[in-house]
Amino acid sequence: MSLPESLISLSLDEPVWERCFGVFPLVLVGTREADGGHDLAPKHLAMPLSWRNWFGFVCTPRHRTYQNALRSGVFTVSYPRPEQVLITSLAAAPRCGEQQQDKPTLQALPVFPATVVDGVLVEGCYLYLECRLERTLDELDGNSLLIGRVVAAHVHVDALRDEEREDNELIHDHPLFAYLYPARFAVIDRSQGFPLPAGFKR
Ligand SMILES: Cc1cc2nc3c(=O)[nH]c(=O)nc-3n(C[C@H](O)[C@H](O)[C@H](O)COP(=O)(O)O)c2cc1C
Repeated sequence: MSLPESLISLSLDEPVWERCFGVFPLVLVGTREADGGHDLAPKHLAMPLSWRNWFGFVCTPRHRTYQNALRSGVFTVSYPRPEQVLITSLAAAPRCGEQQQDKPTLQALPVFPATVVDGVLVEGCYLYLECRLERTLDELDGNSLLIGRVVAAHVHVDALRDEEREDNELIHDHPLFAYLYPARFAVIDRSQGFPLPAGFKR
């Protein structure tokens, strides 16, 4: 079967995701370091797993985030707002110091303690999850999927959906961050109702 002329088949030797834009979330995953400090790192391969209280993200075992999560058995997730793009990026700065241990840019991200798990949440974000690591799916060509059960969740009052406010007004007044891999982002402040089919049920 031949493809429509307008399609270009991509080489699978290079990441497909770098040849075409896609919309991803961007979260800050927090973990406890072995020395008692905390780590934060941005992750865009991150999403709810099911409609219930599961959350997963992809991380390479080379990262401290993976190592900390496996050792401590917990992690946190903070959803930044668009105005936090710079500090979110700074959390990905390379480590430095004699043994490449330090990530001094984390000082730009004020935090407060999580309530149920041993970890921190990033100030100014609009949604927070506290997760217990339940399982990992390793060997995804050098990456792993870490799956956590959400054991606590917190939402900023200005981001909370309720009957008093239209959803489009909420998103307009408190825009969302979209990460456009590989290296762009968008601020979502306009939205439309999705045209669900009549009689649609989940
Ligand atoms: C916008 C952005 C998105 C990223 N998404 C991911 C991701 O989904 N998975 C991942 O393993 N690394 C991702 N990274 C890279 C890590 O955040 C980065 O390497 C970080 O410094 C790792 O820190 P750690 O060693 O403290 O865990 C991303 C980086 C940026 C800037």
